[in-house]
Amino acid sequence: MGNIKIDYSKTLNFIRKEDIFGFQSEVKKHIEALYNKSGKGNDFLGWVNLPTSISFDEIKDIQTTADNLKKNCEIVVVVGIGGSYLGSKAVIDALSDNFAQLKERKNPLVVFAGQNISEDYMTELRAMLHTRNWGVVAISKSGTTTEPAIAFRILKTDLEKKYGKTAAAQRIVAITDASKGALRTLATQEGYKTFIIPDDVGGRFSVLTPVGLLPIAIAGFDIAQLVKGAVDMEKLTGANIPFEENPAAIYAATRNALLRIGKGIEIMVNYNPKLHYVAEWWKQLYGESEGKEGKGIFPASVDFTSDLHSMGQYIQEGQRNLFETVLSVKQPDTQLVIEKDAGNLDGLNFLAGKRMDEVNKMAELGTIIAHVDGGVPNIRIELPLLNEYFLGQLIYFYEIGCGISGYILDVNPFDQPGVEAYKKNMFALLEKPGFEAETKAIKARL
Ligand code: PA5
Repeated sequence: MGNIKIDYSKTLNFIRKEDIFGFQSEVKKHIEALYNKSGKGNDFLGWVNLPTSISFDEIKDIQTTADNLKKNCEIVVVVGIGGSYLGSKAVIDALSDNFAQLKERKNPLVVFAGQNISEDYMTELRAMLHTRNWGVVAISKSGTTTEPAIAFRILKTDLEKKYGKTAAAQRIVAITDASKGALRTLATQEGYKTFIIPDDVGGRFSVLTPVGLLPIAIAGFDIAQLVKGAVDMEKLTGANIPFEENPAAIYAATRNALLRIGKGIEIMVNYNPKLHYVAEWWKQLYGESEGKEGKGIFPASVDFTSDLHSMGQYIQEGQRNLFETVLSVKQPDTQLVIEKDAGNLDGLNFLAGKRMDEVNKMAELGTIIAHVDGGVPNIRIELPLLNEYFLGQLIYFYEIGCGISGYILDVNPFDQPGVEAYKKNMFALLEKPGFEAETKAIKARL
């Protein structure tokens, strides 16, 4: 079946192989620090052994809970933001039919709420749910995040009006801290089925806990295979694996070697719209983990070939502070051959007999070469297939790569102190009790 592969050869016009391999001993030290829990942020390293420590009983409990919701719900609303949202959204989108919403379905449609505070979004969601059978999975590690808390307050009330308080409680699952936070208090009081987010697993590293696994199972995907992929990647990226055979070590070292020559922006590129949210998840993972103390590589993303007609110009000829990481799927699930046309008015008969994917792959190759010629180094990550197993590999690969890379940058990759600044101002502007001094200070600036 193979494994995901990394190719750094198209960075070698810009950096030397020695620049990448120069990180070898440092990377080994960092992997050991992640495993020994001796580095920065060591109280948040529960994710390192998560794949190999998930038990069969835990997966069964998640699957049973998903099956119960599936019996009663056409739609399940997953309420969460950041790490309590992006991982499951990424996997579900990557595995779903692009037009699943319009097709007959065996499994509930999973939709999301609490990932924004848009009144339009919430109003339209409620209107759509009004005539459907639905349930809620409320996810918040802290249990106090404003966006999901508002969404859950509204949806809980709607659900109780529709089904009555007791029946509504059967349609709600809460995933939160073992003992702290408003969501835990509410879940205990209302008797919701709950799952715990381990204390030592931060939000953006939580996709392989019930946070990611429950929504993915509800959408009908194989969470045991996802975990198996992650288990295998955990083994392939361990401290005992030689540097050149460890894809996460190579990734972390290459992107840091590029940063040191001024390439401070990494653009994650895909050629399949199903991967759009994988890049969104990756942006949170790397952005929140590395962007602190004035350091870090700025994570950006594009969807090609669509964005070649918008961002392509900048990438080809704009400021030369970029590098790209292409996420490519070797083998699509489908078979679509372009046919010959008698009139050939569009001039495309030279493509007749070729698969559409071959055209896409040549667009990818042509773009990589053009961008390298234009001064943009390229890393390429290849997934043999887009399925649960390889997505599991990919998730763990990015997570461990992020831990190593954060340690190379000498930051704590597992905190996010900067996220608080907007919250403080928002609460001050909304005159939250306890924020009187901040309210006064911010109003003086308006
Ligand atoms: O990575 C993180 O820890 C954060 O981005 C959180 O995922 C996000 O803020 C949501 O937090 P919570 O799950 O506590 O509601």
